Amino acid sequence: MTDLDWTLVDEGWGRRAADFATLSEPANCREYVAVHHRLDVGDGDRLLDVACGSGLAIELAAARGALGAGIDASPRLVAIARDRNPDADIQVGDMHALHWADAAFDVVTSFRGIWGTTPDAVREIHRVLVPGGRVGITVWGHIKVSPGAWALAPFRMAAAAKIGNQAAMVSLGRPGAGEDLLARCGFVDVRRIEVPFAWEFADPDVFARALASTGPAYEAIQNVGERAFLDEATRLAAEHVRDGLPLRARIAAVGYLARKATP
Ligand SMILES: C[S@@+](CC[C@H](N)C(=O)[O-])C[C@H]1O[C@@H](n2cnc3c(N)ncnc32)[C@H](O)[C@@H]1O
Repeated sequence: MTDLDWTLVDEGWGRRAADFATLSEPANCREYVAVHHRLDVGDGDRLLDVACGSGLAIELAAARGALGAGIDASPRLVAIARDRNPDADIQVGDMHALHWADAAFDVVTSFRGIWGTTPDAVREIHRVLVPGGRVGITVWGHIKVSPGAWALAPFRMAAAAKIGNQAAMVSLGRPGAGEDLLARCGFVDVRRIEVPFAWEFADPDVFARALASTGPAYEAIQNVGERAFLDEATRLAAEHVRDGLPLRARIAAVGYLARKATP
């Protein structure tokens, strides 16, 4: 996002904020639970979630006893995050310029919010962590070989330049890429973990509506129109309907866990 104006993010990510919060974000809950567990998030941890979306991860961290904070570029998603987390300090802003003081947090998380195109955000995460503080970020893994790759295919209806940018964004999932970035930014004990990630939806219409609420879907919708996007997403999902079971799309996701070095 460094080359883009972050204030434009809301145009895509915020336009169907209630759909995103209720249909899309809950489908990501497995990775939140796994990363909170691996980071041992617990009572009294001051936790910041970067690119927090509509704040479900903050709510789940609070259920473990953490004191939540968050930042997201979309005012409409932040409004929902605040509604879900009235006691948390949740700000509208750019992940490259965090609003908090140095060493303000014990834990920082980011769920598919940090990309190959946003390395400076990792330096900011390092700055706001206490020495010894823990970080956990997730990124997409090898999407093409994922059984649920079909669920992301409608994003490829975006214009060619946008598809190129989407590919650059997911580059952080390549072996070694996240490890190098975290080490360059001063993190130690960097570990790469597999993160459970499976989207489930009741039927193709719900899937299409959930997908259409995301930022990359908006890039496709700008190119082909909302009707064509929904039709294609519904058609693809219909090929994966299973009798008596929800649609399920398992997608490879990678987590990076690390610590800020202690002096
Ligand atoms: C893939 S979503 C992740 C949302 C949420 N963490 C989740 O798990 O569903 C990416 C999020 O990054 C936010 N975002 C994009 N660019 C940003 C920036 N420069 N600064 C802060 N947030 C940004 C979007 O508004 C969106 O909520």
